[in-house]
Amino acid sequence: MLILGIETSCDETSAAIVKDGKEVVSSIVLSQNTLHGEFGGVVPEIACRAHLEAITGVIDKALLDAKIQLKEIDAIAVVNTPGLIGALLIGVTAAKSLSMILDVPLIAIDHLHAHIYANNLEYNDIVYPAISLVVSGGHTILFLSEGETRHIPLGWTIDDAAGEAFDKVSKILGLGYPGGPVIDRLAKCGNQHAVAFPRAYLEKDSLDFSFSGLKTAVLYYYKGQDSKLSKSVTAGDQDAADIAASFQEAVVDVLVEKTFLASRMYNARAILTGGGVAANSRLRQRLKDKSKEMTTPVYYPSALLCTDNAAMVAGLAYKKYLEGDISGLDLEAIP
Ligand code: KG4
Ligand code: ZN
Repeated sequence: MLILGIETSCDETSAAIVKDGKEVVSSIVLSQNTLHGEFGGVVPEIACRAHLEAITGVIDKALLDAKIQLKEIDAIAVVNTPGLIGALLIGVTAAKSLSMILDVPLIAIDHLHAHIYANNLEYNDIVYPAISLVVSGGHTILFLSEGETRHIPLGWTIDDAAGEAFDKVSKILGLGYPGGPVIDRLAKCGNQHAVAFPRAYLEKDSLDFSFSGLKTAVLYYYKGQDSKLSKSVTAGDQDAADIAASFQEAVVDVLVEKTFLASRMYNARAILTGGGVAANSRLRQRLKDKSKEMTTPVYYPSALLCTDNAAMVAGLAYKKYLEGDISGLDLEAIP
């Protein structure tokens, strides 16, 4: 069964064709990073217009790469929640139109569940229940995953998302957008013990997160430095590398601690990760180390499947299709 997936929830216009929920036949991701870069974050109106301009071309390219004609597609999958409302609407409208014209089923996908499914695209040995950590630019959330399509939220961020904190700290340091990959690279040359930034664990056994205090601590530390740091640091500065490494370690400490706390609380047999921040090399290393200690396997998608893409959408749609979870043309976009 060939499913065409569409993803436009944030700042990537993406279309992919996946066979039987597993084989990625083609995957096109058009990033809007250069459009949002000068603003240090995603501007919803710009995102929405860019999706509109790109969507038909991206779908055409996915078909072309797959050497598949539109009439061979068996179902259309689309992310309808959560995301920027204007951005979601572009994908949902395109998907509804295709479903109607081709007379094939329409399958609605939750963006966060799709991030978790990115693991199922690449691994066959995942056992449940699992704890799933989704960490992206818009979300930081822990789920109890009972299967590929069943995810119960356990805790989430009460303010900034982890990726948002990476992006804002990068902006503070004048290092560009998106901040995650830059800080990840820079931190490799820095000392993670250089600055004792705060870790917000919240109340005992809480599975919620908070990153806004950490972001403010970085801002105050940076502004409070002597004058040589008050202009933008550059990626080659040791001070910048030390701040990046210390900030990253504070984020990673909290993510690892709470993920394994959830794993113990729910007797998880696996830990799944997803979302752009799951590409972070330090987070992956620390989860791997802890996984050995706790003997609970940790899975992460390859870097290209961590960030937003439609392959994870089309993949999960196949499982939902098998469960008879089909949507009507009255499907709504829900921010
Ligand atoms: O999942 P994603 O592509 O979009 C959302 O659903 O939000 O995640 C984008 C986020 C951005 O905040 C970006 O800075 C962050 O993921 N990110 C990273 C890394 N790569 C991307 N954060 C930390 N380390 C990375 N290597
Ligand atoms: Zn995402």
